[in-house]
Amino acid sequence: MNGAAVFIDRAKIRTPANLRIDYRVIDATSADALTTLGDAATFDAAVCSMAMMDLAEIAPLLAAVRRLLKPDGVFVFSVCHPAFNATTTRMTSEFFTGEDGRTRQRFGVANDFYLSPRTDASEGIINQPEPHPMFHRSISGLLRECFAAGFVADAFEEPAFPAGMSAKSAFSWAKRPEIPPALVVRVRPLAL
Ligand SMILES: C[S@@+](CC[C@H](N)C(=O)[O-])C[C@H]1O[C@@H](n2cnc3c(N)ncnc32)[C@H](O)[C@@H]1O
Repeated sequence: MNGAAVFIDRAKIRTPANLRIDYRVIDATSADALTTLGDAATFDAAVCSMAMMDLAEIAPLLAAVRRLLKPDGVFVFSVCHPAFNATTTRMTSEFFTGEDGRTRQRFGVANDFYLSPRTDASEGIINQPEPHPMFHRSISGLLRECFAAGFVADAFEEPAFPAGMSAKSAFSWAKRPEIPPALVVRVRPLAL
């Protein structure tokens, strides 16, 4: 959380004075902390960008967002794609012979683990000072928790890098335009 406070301080410095943004640093796995965010049914939208795979538990966050959103509100979240961008994924690079007889190189991913939840140490940036835990949830596992919190999903995207982008590193996602490194889901409160 100390790192997060530094990011929030930096965001405050960069925020134009005419924008009224109320920044808070809280633990998104703490139901008690999340109750301090506001009154029920007062928010039009909520976003959680590339963070839920870093949370040991997502049920408290989902319950809080469900409470805070207006009945016609939306919650959009993105995570590392659990099938392709997980701690168990290996990035592959192969030389092969094309139909024209030419030697070519192709880039992909290999994985042998997906369905069960698991926790592994990982790096968001190679050689970061300390690895941090990554909490693997399958797509059905993620959505099951959303449904249990009283949401329905109505949009789902798997963005990848555009084909033809140049990249030097064999580990770049730009070398894998058919493999989405992220998953983006929009959910809405289930009408009762
Ligand atoms: C991969 S970064 C994403 C940062 C940013 N949202 C973005 O999209 O670039 C994951 C973020 O989750 C935050 N995070 C991890 N665990 C958290 C927790 N328990 N409560 C609140 N934030 C947490 C980290 O501080 C970090 O900023």
